[in-house]
Amino acid sequence: MKKVLVTGGLGFIGSHTVVELQNEGFEVIIIDNLSNSSIEVLDKITSITGIKPEYHNIDLKDKLAVKIFFEHHPVDGIIHFAASKAVGESVQMPLEYYENNIGSLVYILQELKANNLNNFIFSSSCTVYGQADELPITENAPIKPAESPYGNTKQIGEEIIKDATKVSNLKAIALRYFNPIGAHESAKIGELPIGVPQNLIPFVVQTAAGIREELSVFGSDYDTPDGTAVRDYIHVVDLAKAHIVALRRLIENNNKAQFEIFNLGTGKGNSVLEVIQSFEKVTGKKVNYKLVDRRAGDITAAYADTNYANDELGWKTELSLDDALLSAWKWQETLK
Ligand code: UD1
Repeated sequence: MKKVLVTGGLGFIGSHTVVELQNEGFEVIIIDNLSNSSIEVLDKITSITGIKPEYHNIDLKDKLAVKIFFEHHPVDGIIHFAASKAVGESVQMPLEYYENNIGSLVYILQELKANNLNNFIFSSSCTVYGQADELPITENAPIKPAESPYGNTKQIGEEIIKDATKVSNLKAIALRYFNPIGAHESAKIGELPIGVPQNLIPFVVQTAAGIREELSVFGSDYDTPDGTAVRDYIHVVDLAKAHIVALRRLIENNNKAQFEIFNLGTGKGNSVLEVIQSFEKVTGKKVNYKLVDRRAGDITAAYADTNYANDELGWKTELSLDDALLSAWKWQETLK
């Protein structure tokens, strides 16, 4: 049985990926410092799959702890989710973001090299493309200057990994996520809301649940069919499954270069108003909203060209926007 380390394995995307890994017969070890997650997720994962993953509460900024962990755990692969991800917060706390997202990445890569562990999957983001000149966005689209320290940590992270693959046996894949949404069909795991949601779907869901009075739709004068911004919303379970495919590619040496990059999206763009309409249709719930000014730093439109991931990974999304929105609502219902 192949052993996989999942850092940030109790977080939103991490927890869904742990479930899919276990479903596919991998033995999973989780590292998570609970900075943006809850220990209860461990029991939730266990109740979905019937298997309790090994868990370590390690802060990956602790270089010595990282060293000791890898000396004792010769894993077959590493999926590295653990990172801070709030765009606004990163502007306020840039150094904390660089220390947490870059420091820990470097420590992990050093220990992979020291222990000759060679299969590494990195959580990247479509934020590296900024407002792309052409849609849909291919992996060859130019990287634009980052809008935030958070975005910069993803760009720098990719560069660091690429450089590391040049001087070691490391094989790595960076997965550039578009907008991950939704929850597991069991409604046992999902995106844990902490404070006022900054992302669209959690805010929509909380407004429908009466926790928030009204959703502000940021910008109605974009150059899009209905004037609201367009994104590629991908179901988190589809996204999770792509990680297993990518990891297998490395373990089985099917990669074509030591460092590869894939977009993970549906290939379909939906506007904010379309999301609200779909949500109302599938849940029968009303979402109060008002049109307000654009949010600083937002782009007009982004959606993935999925051809490369579809052809090369043999992976494609199976779930729809409706599926994702309904699952997000069912998850919210369990939080009452
Ligand atoms: C945001 C981040 C991105 C990050 C991603 C992770 C910014 C500028 N970008 O993407 O770097 O990788 O989250 O999840 O923060 N919207 C509203 N009202 C709301 C919230 C959002 O109208 O209350 C709109 C936004 O203007 C945007 C769309 O909904 O057009 C999606 O927003 P969001 O879910 O925050 O994702 P992104 O901004 O695309």
